Amino acid sequence: MALLELKNLHVALEDGTEIVKGVDLAIDPNEVHAVMGPNGSGKSTLAYALMGHPAYRITQGDVLLDGESILELEADERAQRGLFLAFQYPHAVPGVTVTSFLRSAINAIRKAKNGGEDDPIPIPEFRKEIFAQMDRLKVSRELASRYLNDGFSGGEKKRVEILQMAMLKPRIAVLDETDSGLDIDALRVVAGGVKELVGPEMGALVITHYQRILDYITPDFVHVFSDGRIVEEGGPELAHKLEAEGYERYEVATA
Ligand SMILES: Nc1ncnc2c1ncn2[C@@H]1O[C@H](COP(=O)(O)OP(=O)(O)OP(=O)(O)O)[C@@H](O)[C@H]1O
Ligand SMILES: [Mg+2]
Repeated sequence: MALLELKNLHVALEDGTEIVKGVDLAIDPNEVHAVMGPNGSGKSTLAYALMGHPAYRITQGDVLLDGESILELEADERAQRGLFLAFQYPHAVPGVTVTSFLRSAINAIRKAKNGGEDDPIPIPEFRKEIFAQMDRLKVSRELASRYLNDGFSGGEKKRVEILQMAMLKPRIAVLDETDSGLDIDALRVVAGGVKELVGPEMGALVITHYQRILDYITPDFVHVFSDGRIVEEGGPELAHKLEAEGYERYEVATA
């Protein structure tokens, strides 16, 4: 039994348009899976559907975490069970600081783990942890007291997504183009942060267009996504091949 298992997953938009057309995928702790594929092929849709975004309906198939279906769970309950998504386009949350956002998220997870009873993280422990992680991920401490993603640069948003991951310590991290918009040093730092967390406690699904991030986080499996389906699978060498050859040969023939 895999930690996270997608079985014949189909996802449709609210108007019924099918975007993800039958995906099978199994992710275990200690594993990095890369998903690569052309623009508009449904990668982000898949990520949103895993997290329980209400705009994306799972019309067929199942998602199992520890062998249990999570389809009936709300997004926050999925997060409490250890699913995490770093967004391709993180949203600003004016009025909520990075610190208060992270503290609430951590406390929600701790509450769920504590059988529904509040078990807030002691403030000194929280402060120590957040500053240690910010230093490690080279996130400016000044960002901690600003509103989440409000006026953040593209790269700052991506770093703060990884800061959230480092603080929440999920069991499965889905990273949707976390590498896009990062400068070269930030890419190294962010990839290092992900790599450090992948282990017996965590597996990762890395959605990316570029081999570059995979130089730092070597994937165990590479899945090529095209028109809502996985059309080829392989090891890290497949990502190199894609970089060299592009997606042309996977393109769906249109009449
Ligand atoms: N909320 C939505 N409303 C309308 N169309 C949508 C919505 N979400 C996704 N789509 C459409 O579904 C298709 C897949 O989009 P998705 O964002 O999943 O692609 P992607 O593989 O992540 O692409 P990219 O590499 O550009 O990030 C696109 O044609 C997109 O326009
Ligand atoms: Mg996308």
